[in-house]
Amino acid sequence: KHSRPNHHPYKSGPTPRQNPPSSQGLSTRRELYERDFPVYKQPVEVGCFSLDSERRFFNDSRQMRYYVEPDRNPNFDLRDGYKDRFIKRDDSVKEKLDHILRWILANRSKLSSRGATASPRALDVDIVTWRGHLTKLLTSPYETREGWLLAVTRFRGTLYISEVETEAARRDRENREERHEEMMYWGYKFEQYTCADNTHSVPDPGGVVNTNEAFCTVVQTRLADHRLLFSGEVDCRDKDPNAPAPPACYIELKTSAEICTPKQRSNFHRFKLLKWWAQSFLPGVPRVVAGFRDHEGVVVTVDTFPISKMSHLIKNEHNCWKPTVCMNFCCDFLSFVKRIATEDNPSVVYLFSWEPHRDVTYSVHRDSQYSFLPHWYVEKMTS
Ligand code: A3P
Ligand code: MG
Ligand code: MG
Repeated sequence: KHSRPNHHPYKSGPTPRQNPPSSQGLSTRRELYERDFPVYKQPVEVGCFSLDSERRFFNDSRQMRYYVEPDRNPNFDLRDGYKDRFIKRDDSVKEKLDHILRWILANRSKLSSRGATASPRALDVDIVTWRGHLTKLLTSPYETREGWLLAVTRFRGTLYISEVETEAARRDRENREERHEEMMYWGYKFEQYTCADNTHSVPDPGGVVNTNEAFCTVVQTRLADHRLLFSGEVDCRDKDPNAPAPPACYIELKTSAEICTPKQRSNFHRFKLLKWWAQSFLPGVPRVVAGFRDHEGVVVTVDTFPISKMSHLIKNEHNCWKPTVCMNFCCDFLSFVKRIATEDNPSVVYLFSWEPHRDVTYSVHRDSQYSFLPHWYVEKMTS
């Protein structure tokens, strides 16, 4: 089979082509990535972990939540509880890859085939990172506002990719307006209205929203010749015991401004659906449940968007995003990283930086502020 439509993306595809290697950076220009969809294997969940109300790690699914379908026009008040029932995670604390590394240490036997010798073998993966970092890569060819910094360390053959906050992002975070602070709460409040703690309970909108809590899936997959291991937060799952196995039973929850004009619809398709698609396609989460809110933060309608239908929804938009461009750029970026980050050393960081309308460039740092693999991880993986 040679040609495949973009909407059957988890099947194998033709041999990937590389862009001509450049001595300088890597371009994010869309035209360079308009080719056949690369091989992206169906993501397989290899484990999960939970972070509790104090952000403590547990190698289990205790923070899993269960989706309870709301009324189509529910009138959820997303502002309720912002002042008195909200515990916000401290986002100035940079956790880097630490939780994923804890998960790896606790589940090492699943990831490395031991050789004849007593010493532990390297991990059988090329890349370890957060799903959110990959989402940023997927959307880069269409991003016009926010750049990124990605720190890469090669250790025992595996490339670890961890985001570094840009100066601009830090400024934005420290100077957020009160209205924006409150709007960030709305998404979590919507989760509280639609999620129960177990299969036989109902949501509790009177409880506290604590954004330290998280349930994360860990998936393995392959993008062309890149074997990936990444983790991402999952909002909830289908509570039907007959639902398919993870990640197919997972549901991503989103809120968005109510769509009232053709211009708003077009912007929703061109910008928001791209982010939603990229985030959920990567771990194989099949659907997004969206709450559309008015200006007062009241959810007026709820709609389900299957990930597999998003690329059809956008086809009528002029100059719209394409899944193949996103995936081919990510694939070429990972090849670029493999070619550059050659020294296997836990204290060396290759810092890749990108700003919209520029090429991706890099710099090398030894024993610097950018080193991110903790001693406890390096020691346990070496002994
Ligand atoms: P919405 O998705 O409804 O906007 P996620 O959707 O990834 O599960 O994230 C849950 C919520 O966290 C978001 O709800 C939003 O309120 C907040 N959030 C996530 N990423 C954010 C970001 N980069 N900036 C601001 N808010 C963010
Ligand atoms: Mg989430
Ligand atoms: Mg969500």
